Amino acid sequence: MRGMEAAEPQDIVLVGATGDLARRKLLPALYNLALDGLLPDEGAVIGYARGDLSDDEFRRRAREAVSEHSRRAVDPEAWETLARRLRFVCAREHGLEGVARRSERERRLVYLATPPSLFAETVRELSEHGLTRGGRIVIEKPFGYDLPSAEALDAALQRHLDERQIYRIDHYLGKETVQNILVFRFGNAIFERLWNRDAIDHVQITVGESIGLEGRGATYETVGAFRDILQNHVLQVVSLLTMEPPTSFEAEAIRDEKVKALHAIAPIDPGEVVLGQYTRGVIDGEPIPGYREEEGVAPDSGTESFAAARLRIDSWRWAGVPFFIRTGKRLPRRVSEVTIQFRDAPIRFFQPTQVSALSPNRLTLRLQPDEGIALSFLAKPPGPEVDARPVRMSFSYGDSFMTEPQEAYERLLYDAMDGDRTLFLRSDGVRRAWEIVDPVLSDPPPVTYYAAGSWGPPEAERLISPRAWRVDD
Ligand code: BG6
Repeated sequence: MRGMEAAEPQDIVLVGATGDLARRKLLPALYNLALDGLLPDEGAVIGYARGDLSDDEFRRRAREAVSEHSRRAVDPEAWETLARRLRFVCAREHGLEGVARRSERERRLVYLATPPSLFAETVRELSEHGLTRGGRIVIEKPFGYDLPSAEALDAALQRHLDERQIYRIDHYLGKETVQNILVFRFGNAIFERLWNRDAIDHVQITVGESIGLEGRGATYETVGAFRDILQNHVLQVVSLLTMEPPTSFEAEAIRDEKVKALHAIAPIDPGEVVLGQYTRGVIDGEPIPGYREEEGVAPDSGTESFAAARLRIDSWRWAGVPFFIRTGKRLPRRVSEVTIQFRDAPIRFFQPTQVSALSPNRLTLRLQPDEGIALSFLAKPPGPEVDARPVRMSFSYGDSFMTEPQEAYERLLYDAMDGDRTLFLRSDGVRRAWEIVDPVLSDPPPVTYYAAGSWGPPEAERLISPRAWRVDD
């Protein structure tokens, strides 16, 4: 974080302060910022939710949430710096009027950690109580459900807010490894020269999770894997991989290039999409129930828990280079990874039995876990024979920087308090992402099936064939 200074004095308002996001992510992130001395020196942190809690009860619950979910243990002194700012306002009893009364500063950050159906109405009420003035408003995905609903939400927000006040979060952009894509590409000229259709055969991105629905069955049923991960997190990663160099590293220059990159991605052909749903299976020796047996899921549900697609990018740099993307729940393990597969050597001097059918030149960006980058190439094993074996050069964040990456929400909350919009989505980018997926949402292919603990339905292998999906071992 630039300068590593505390953010300027301001109030922080958490709307939906007793919900899952606040408990698992936002309160622990605020605590970790306090621990690093990055929380504003002055200003209240106001929790706002339907329950009727005293300030002390809210503090007690917040401490519990932090102990349970913080990446670092609770230090009593750092906890106190946060705890003494915590206040609670009961939505049912006082409404946002109560927040206005307990607010201490003119400048404020309001985080909407509520179900998306409440975004528009909450912003209207915030505006009515003068809470949008001098304020920045952070909203979480999903920004709409499809193109028309995203446009309607945007119009509702823009009625009360200036675009410069809106901070749309895609938490993938707060991950160190995702931010590193730009440093890696534009800080190292050696790779940038290979970053195009001349050198690259294809790119693949996997966002795999071994977890299931984690009690979110009813919500997930209305979303599915395609909207939950591909439409946002994965398209954002694609835009960072494919964008042209920005004219500067200023927020708008980077956001302009990202949006241009999204415009080059052709709307996805439903014939190049595979949707899947998990059936019973086994992960790490544990029996796993099928998707339709999960709590909150309809017994005849047609919602997909897996989605894969082929993207076509119509730009001079990328024409003819397919991007294969996939995501799924209940896959064998948690892994988010980008593979850049380079073209094969023009002439093979080594027998195909000695090397795999694919070119060994592959760059893997391990976004999580075991964050790092690996480059694979051929080397001659010691011995009298001329042989060739694939080997790897590897960089690991843990070994090189001896520190654990910060949580995405810490970075994003700090940037929002600091007024830096670089890592947040702009309205035109969100709209374009919906346009890209629109044909699939309007005419989805039928859902196919895969056993929990497998890498998805066989149809996904056919989608990428004759190439093959891979994740780093
Ligand atoms: C969220 C999705 O956006 O990302 C969840 O809604 C998913 O379904 C989560 O589990 C994954 O985030 P991360 O940071 O654990 O990869």
